[in-house]
Amino acid sequence: MFRWIAGIVGFAFAAAVLVAFGSDLRTYFKAPPEATAEHEFHREHKELKLASDGPFGQFDKQQLQRGFQVYKEVCSGCHSLTRVAFRDLHQLGYEEAEVKAIANQWQVEVPSVNPDTGEPATRKAVPADHFPSPYANETAARAANNNALPPDLSLMAKAREGGAAYVYSILTGYQNQPAELLEKFPAAKTAQGLHYNPYFANLNLAMPPPLTSEGQVTYAPGNPKPTVDQMARDVSAFLVWTAEPNLQGRHKSGWPVVIFLIIATLLGFLSYREIWAQAKRKVPSKGPSAPASKAKRTRTSKKAGVTG
Ligand code: HEC
Repeated sequence: MFRWIAGIVGFAFAAAVLVAFGSDLRTYFKAPPEATAEHEFHREHKELKLASDGPFGQFDKQQLQRGFQVYKEVCSGCHSLTRVAFRDLHQLGYEEAEVKAIANQWQVEVPSVNPDTGEPATRKAVPADHFPSPYANETAARAANNNALPPDLSLMAKAREGGAAYVYSILTGYQNQPAELLEKFPAAKTAQGLHYNPYFANLNLAMPPPLTSEGQVTYAPGNPKPTVDQMARDVSAFLVWTAEPNLQGRHKSGWPVVIFLIIATLLGFLSYREIWAQAKRKVPSKGPSAPASKAKRTRTSKKAGVTG
């Protein structure tokens, strides 16, 4: 009796799910979702090749230094980098004195407390400090940016699909709204204070184009020309480092681990054979590949005069 009731309840549930699915399917085909400007005009990120790509990738320190320079001179005006400390810059090849100087001369001071009065105060950064936010708090950041919040860039290369290539595409992707878009979707006109960029998910970004002219940042002699494209590449490479400073170590230790696992698998397999050898030999083998059948076959072939 109880089983019957359980069966009927189960069947009713399954039927309800099926009916709901069928009706959704009908609505989908009767009134398909309307095309949107985002759907038609959003573009996949561009290609970007970096020295750190792939399982053998290593950072190009020269490029990371240029990228840091772009961050320092352009992006740090709005974006923080709170997960990276000044002393981490050693990894980019800066000497201790240089790191100290960079921290000391950073345009924003770090929050602290006045030791005499206990009042909030600021002091110059030291290598142990993390890169400070240019704004006192979120409200101040939004107030200065048309109510949009410039996100912290430390993990940006991990946070978006495409990583560094996405950042590069955003930086070099600003353009005028295509006439075709306005014709088809007049309501999707870029609003005041926003900027059209087809690589951004909703096509309109609150960040004004940060890199606009060649030579905006002056590179040291021996480096490529600071074109907008080059600066965008460099700062994207730099953000790969901030998101994963130990990438090189991970790449280096990956291979020995893979080789060790291969050897361990081989040893495991051999000891399995060794341990089971006795037990398995007890089972007499049958069929065409059994030694007895093989010998018989050879004998018959020989008798019949077949060779090979
Ligand atoms: C004038 C201030 C300003 C400057 C300078 C600036 N940004 Fe932004 N950035 C913003 C704001 C505001 C947003 C948030 C945009 C939004 O949500 O619409 C943003 C968002 C971003 C995003 C995130 C986009 C996303 O998918 O959410 C990235 C990446 C970025 N900025 C990188 C940079 C880099 C790299 C630089 C330096 C070359 C830079 N920004 C310079 C204000 C700025």
